Amino acid sequence: MSKESTSDVMLDCYEVSKNFGGLQALNDVNLKVKHNTIHSLIGPNGAGKSTLLNVITGMITPTHGSVVFDDKPMLDLSPHEINQLGLAKVFQTPAIFPEMTLIKNVCIPALAARDGAFKLNMFQKAGMKSIESFAEETLEEVGLKDSVHKEARFLSRGDKRRLELAICLAHRPKMLLLDEPTAGMARHETENTILLLRKIADRGMTMVIVEHDMNVVFALSETISVLAQGTIIAEGTPDEVKGNPKVIEAYLGEEQE
Ligand SMILES: Nc1ncnc2c1ncn2[C@@H]1O[C@H](COP(=O)(O)OP(=O)(O)O)[C@@H](O)[C@H]1O
Ligand SMILES: [Mg+2]
Repeated sequence: MSKESTSDVMLDCYEVSKNFGGLQALNDVNLKVKHNTIHSLIGPNGAGKSTLLNVITGMITPTHGSVVFDDKPMLDLSPHEINQLGLAKVFQTPAIFPEMTLIKNVCIPALAARDGAFKLNMFQKAGMKSIESFAEETLEEVGLKDSVHKEARFLSRGDKRRLELAICLAHRPKMLLLDEPTAGMARHETENTILLLRKIADRGMTMVIVEHDMNVVFALSETISVLAQGTIIAEGTPDEVKGNPKVIEAYLGEEQE
C-alpha cells in the first residue's frame, strides 16, 4: 500500500468518541475520506453512523477526538460555519418552500451562498453569472430542467429529493454527506438516485454516504467503512468488504429485506 500524503485526505476524523450517558455510541473512530471519492459508511442499526455524521457537521460535540475538513479543524465551529466551509449534509432538514417555484427555491440558497462566499473570497462560478441562470443550471444538473417554473408542492416524492439536492448544491459545497439517500424509495427511484449521485461525483464532488441498501453502496462506493457498536471493524473496496467475516457477523441478526 502506498503512503498517502495528507493532502489526499479531505476529511479526517481522528479517534472520535461519543458517549450518551452510559452508552458509548462511538469509540475511537478513525475515518479518512479522500478527495473525489464516494466513501460509504455502513453498519447495523444503532452502530453510530448518524452520530458520526452529526459530529462531522457540528451538530454533536464528541466526547473525544478531532475532525479536520479541508485542512481546517472543525470542532470549535458551529454547524453553520462548517456548512459555509463547504461541508453539506443532504436530506437532513430539507428547506423546501412548497408554494414557491423550483427556481426560487434554488435562488435563495444560491444568493445566501454568494453573499457568504464573497466574504470568504472563495466563490468562483456563480459570481460571474446571474443567480437565476446558476439556479437553472443546478436544477438541470439534478434532472429538473423541465420543472423550473413549477411550484415545489407539485413534485413527486422522488423529484422533491432531487430539489433538496439542488438546494444543497446551490451552496457549492466541496463535500456532501448523505444519510440514507434512498430510504423509502421505490426501486426505479433508487436506480435514478444512483445515476444522479454518480454523475455529481464524476463532476468532482466528494461524498460520504450512509446507506442501508447494499445495491446502492456497492454500485457507488470506492471505499466502504463498516461501523459496528461504535467501532470501525472493516474498511476497503466493495470486494474487500463483501467477504469479510467480521462484516458478515456484524450483520447477522439484522432483519433481511
Ligand atoms: N441523542 C442521543 N441520545 C442518546 N442516545 C443516542 C442519541 N443519538 C443516538 N443515540 C444512541 O447511539 C447509538 C448510535 O445511534 P445512531 O448513530 O443513530 O446509529 P445508526 O445511525 O448507525 O443507526 C444508538 O444506540 C442510539 O440509540
Ligand atoms: Mg442512522
